[in-house]
Amino acid sequence: MDYIEDSLRQNRFWLRIMSEHALFIRLGLPCYAADLINQAQNLQNLFEQLKVRADNTPPVRGEVFNLNQDVIAALDRIIPFKSDLLTLIITCNIGGSNIPLLIDHIRREAIRFRNILIRLQDDIQISTPEEMLQEEIFWLRIMGEHAKFVAQLLDPSERFLVDQSNDFAIHFETLRLQARDLESMVNPKSFDLWLLPVSLKQVPPGVGACLPDPFLIPRLERFNNEVIEATEKIRDFKATALRLIQDCKVLSIIPPLLADHILREAEMALADLRMIASQI
Ligand SMILES: [Fe+2]
Ligand SMILES: [Fe+2]
Repeated sequence: MDYIEDSLRQNRFWLRIMSEHALFIRLGLPCYAADLINQAQNLQNLFEQLKVRADNTPPVRGEVFNLNQDVIAALDRIIPFKSDLLTLIITCNIGGSNIPLLIDHIRREAIRFRNILIRLQDDIQISTPEEMLQEEIFWLRIMGEHAKFVAQLLDPSERFLVDQSNDFAIHFETLRLQARDLESMVNPKSFDLWLLPVSLKQVPPGVGACLPDPFLIPRLERFNNEVIEATEKIRDFKATALRLIQDCKVLSIIPPLLADHILREAEMALADLRMIASQI
């Protein structure tokens, strides 16, 4: 895809998401964590400003390049912020209502956004089957986790909606296992790479030897359609949930903005998955 078009598409979507993450974190922090609350507010402002800039960036290569660089620098601030907070939470050194997996989830979204921008800046090409599996595995996990978070934030008396959310979570987890099965069949090199320590700077020549490059099979195409179908269903479920929350017709502690946030992410997942399907 075109460098300028894809850069603007990614920035205009993810910058708003990043500012909202900072807001959600701030709302979940304990009131005594004044310093973290301040940092979250500053990050929220930073990403709001970048979003305004991205909306007004003309489709000119130089300006888009500078925007990408500044966004990468901002991500280099929010990713460690999320990491430090997650460490505080999982070592039981802070209270509040930020769920560990939710912080890990939003850090993964930030890591992927940064990786996409780095690939664009450095012109790193990725093959279609590899990208297809990456997108599926990323989004299947994100969609499954949204379903779990919704189930947890609904009032327990909303028995049918809680059950529906849990059913979505199970369905997405099963699809993700299937994606992993397909990944090792058509891209065994990724498994070989996974076995190396992350501290290794250079991949030894023997790694990936005698293994085929990622390749496309018809089953993978069919699988992509199955993922799209499942994502359309959860998108509709989220749209209904948002309406119920806005109309105060459901008992939950889900803020309308969070419902809207996960609905937008489902729309982005569909756009990404359809785009990759159209490349075949
Ligand atoms: Fe998000
Ligand atoms: Fe998300």
